[in-house]
Parts: sequence; structure tokens; C-alpha cells
Amino acid sequence: MNQELVLIFDFGSQFGQLIARRVRELNVFCQVVRHDISAERVKELNPKGIIFSGGPASVYDAGAPKCDPKVFDLGVPVLGICYGMQLAAHVLGGTVCGGSHTREYGRATLTVADPNTLFRGYPKESTVWMSHGDQVQSVSGDWVPLATTDTSPIAAVKHRSRPVFGIQFHPEVSHTAHGGLILQNFLRDVCGCQGLWKMQTFVERTVAEVRERVGDKRVICGLSGGVDSSVCAALLVKAIGPQVTCIYVDNGLMREGETELVRHTFRDWFKADLHTVDARDRFLTELKGVTDPQEKRKVIGRVFIDVFKQEALSIPGAHFLAQGTLYPDVIESGGSADGPAATIKLHHNVGGLPDELGFELIEPLRDLFKDEVRKLGLDLGLPEEVVWRHPFPGPGLAVRCLGEVTPDKLATLRKADTIFIEELHKSGWYRKTAQAFAVLLPVQSVGVMGDGRTYEDTVALRCVQTDDFMTADWSHLPYELLAKVATTIINRVPGVNRVVYDISSKPPATIEWE
Ligand code: XMP
Repeated sequence: MNQELVLIFDFGSQFGQLIARRVRELNVFCQVVRHDISAERVKELNPKGIIFSGGPASVYDAGAPKCDPKVFDLGVPVLGICYGMQLAAHVLGGTVCGGSHTREYGRATLTVADPNTLFRGYPKESTVWMSHGDQVQSVSGDWVPLATTDTSPIAAVKHRSRPVFGIQFHPEVSHTAHGGLILQNFLRDVCGCQGLWKMQTFVERTVAEVRERVGDKRVICGLSGGVDSSVCAALLVKAIGPQVTCIYVDNGLMREGETELVRHTFRDWFKADLHTVDARDRFLTELKGVTDPQEKRKVIGRVFIDVFKQEALSIPGAHFLAQGTLYPDVIESGGSADGPAATIKLHHNVGGLPDELGFELIEPLRDLFKDEVRKLGLDLGLPEEVVWRHPFPGPGLAVRCLGEVTPDKLATLRKADTIFIEELHKSGWYRKTAQAFAVLLPVQSVGVMGDGRTYEDTVALRCVQTDDFMTADWSHLPYELLAKVATTIINRVPGVNRVVYDISSKPPATIEWE
């Protein structure tokens, strides 16, 4: 198991996951847990430290999220952030004050009064990021104020006799100039963490766990061509080699070269037992006449389960189904017993498969964030092309080919998409953007090529910046790059005479067009 664990109590902050990522960046393993986890359970988990996240509530609200007060008696160091600080102060004898006159959002200048422990090595004055209505107004003699801002007389505190600290601002966001240092001081100096969470340790531990759990049974691993499933498969191949069978369903809705890349990577390079199911005709036949986006998703989901099931059940001795579930999926779906309650995201991915197949589920990546998965993929020897691939939706090009999906339209879309992606790679923009693709619109317009008039299709280019895919901004690509892409597409892709660039942000638009 992990020798060093830090628990992050989730009080509903929008930054909960960010705190977890910052802690991981300091090589300390951490997990986000429900705010009301019992002190007994915490004791069992034996953390080196606890961080209380912020949250939108006021400690005086009826039903405001509270922690088990006995948590403070465990002797485990606690760092309360924003609401977390107010709660700690409230429980341990401070006065929290609400009201509009104390509201503070955005940047503030922090002045450090006590340059020890949390603020060791910290500048006397620096910028911090505030986002609170309430604040701690006064504290009993049990507390020592550590820092102030213009509007927060107590912007940071420590308890005189307990290892409990509080900060009113958010060290986890990048707008707080030296936030990482505060977390590092807390984790290293107060909690005594050495920073043992390294990818190599993770790989060794996971490989051993998988071997023990799987024994001599067989594992089926669905490969989609995306990063998560590829890393999951590569890790399993490392752990149990020939006992894993990868299934890749070619639904005819993949990007140019995707099937070949999967084949080359897994069959030729990893020598994995790869089953490629050619279901292109089946998907395209079932999609005939379907124009509604949700209907397309339903058809694709249904056919996928059918095809995958048939293949999986034909593999003798299959017992486990591996999935590339990541930690954010676990947090967002409130999946673990200790996890936060709220289900924020409705999963796009096809659920219910393990139940249908009667297989036991195995999820070796469920402790990792996306950036950790990428690093792991590189460590395992996956090509950069796979590891840095932009996300691709399960329904594939079907939701980028607006209206009815036909083989001709797919061929046109693939050509345009490939040109766009190639130019992004060449110009160094691919890695600077979160997701980019072409969309084929069922809109014809008039053009002129050579001496003749044309009446042909339109391609829209979509390219976005985002960390979480819940909100996104369009990428401000250089005009020269857009011009090059547009010209190349119009010159090389038959049937397209117009290219437009999508400059809508999400919300209100979505990233995909369907
Ligand atoms: P939207 O369009 O909702 O996309 O802003 C957010 C992210 O989710 C991906 N996406 C999907 N992924 N099945 C998937 O597996 C789907 O049906 C689906 N729809 C959208 C989209 O590519 C983006 O990364």
C-alpha cells in the first residue's frame, strides 16, 4: 500500500481536484473523500495529513457540510482552506463573520506576519487568490494569526497546541503566487511526508496487485485507440503478458490511420493478443437514415455492446474486464465508498458492459489523474502519438458528420481532419491545444474553382483550450496557420469549397457539434 497518504475532505469546492493534483505534484499520494467521513475511518486509513477544501457554504447555514469533530482529536495535521479554515476555526473556538462587507473575490496582497512553518521561505508580501463571503474575524487565544490582507485581518492561522492550520485564500490555484510552497511546507514540515509517490512505485505496486488478483485467469481489455485504454492495456501487458486479450472494435467511425496505429502499437510492438473486430458495415448499416445526434449515440452504443459482447464471450476462460477509469471519473461519479456524494458528470461512455458480460471489473488506473496517465504511458513505452492524442468521443466521426452518416461523407471528413491535425503538429500547436478536429457540415455553398462555379460542402474547424472539458474557450490559432489549413483542405479535398473556424466558447456551445 501507499506509505504516505493525505486525505482531502471535500466540502464542495470547485477546486477539490486541483488540490489533489497539487499534492500529487509534490509526490504525495492523496485521495479526495467525503467531508463527513468518520474519525474511525480516517484512523483506519492512517493519513499523514488532512486538507479541508473550500466550499460554497457558510458555517452558519443550516445543513452546512461539517466534519466529524473527533477528527481533530486524532493528532493528524489539518490544513483548512477557505471554508475549511472557517470550519476548523468554528469547531475549535474562533468567530466566523459573514456579510457583504467582508466579501473578497480575486487577487489580494498577503502580508506574512510569521515566516515559520507554513510560510517558511515565503516573501513578506505576495499575491494570493481569494474567493469567499465569510471570513474568520477573531480567534481565541488558542490561535496564532500568521498573515493578513487588507480585508482579512486573519488570512492565515495556526492552532497553539494542535497541528491545525487555516488559510483564507486558495494555494491550489495558479493565481496564488507561491501556493505550492505553502502546500509543500505543510506536507513536508508539518505532516512529515517524504514525497514517496513516484510513478515507478505505482507501477511496481499495481503490477504486483494485478498479478495477485488475476492469478492464472484471463483479462479482456477494450481498446478504443484513446490514451486511457491504451495505457491500461500496456500496463496489463506488462503485468500479465499473454493472459490479457485486447479487443478493438473498428466501427468505421475512426480517424485516419487510427486502426493501423492500434494494431501496430499493440500487436507488433507490445506483442499483445489483439482481436480487431471489423464491424464497419454493421455500424454504417444501422446508422442509415439516422440524423438525430442522440439517436446516433444510442445506435452506436447498442451496436458496440453487441459486437464487443460477442467477441468477448468467444474468448475462452475470460474472467475479468479491464477499464481505463481514471481518478477524476471516480471522484465525479462518487464511485468510492469514501468519495464525495455529488455526481457531477453524466458519463458519456458506454456503461453497463461488465454487468452484461458477467465479468469482474479491473481498473488499474483509478488512482491516477490524466497527466499521470500520460507519464505512465511514456514510461511503459507507448509512442508519443498515442500518449498525447487529443480525446476522441466514443461515437467517433458520426457526431462530426452532421446529418446522415455515409461512407463518402466520412471519407471527406477524414481527409480534412487529417490535414488540420497535421498542420497543428507541424506548427507546434497540437500540444498547446486540448482538442481539435474538423466537422463536415451538410451545407453547400457557391464557389469558383478554375473557370467553373462549384456548389459544394463546408468544413468547420474546431480547436479548443480547456483543462476539464466542462468549460472551454476556442483556441486563438494564428491567422497564417488557419489560412494554410483552409487552403490545403480546399485544394486537396474533393467536394469541399469552403472552410470556417468555430469561435464559440463552451458554454453556451459544446465542444462537439452534435
Ligand atoms: P461536449 O461536446 O459535451 O464534449 O462539450 C465534451 C468532451 O466530451 C467528448 N464527448 C464524448 N465522449 N462519448 C464520448 O466518449 C460521447 O458521446 C461524447 N460526446 C462528447 C468531447 O469530444 C469532448 O472531449
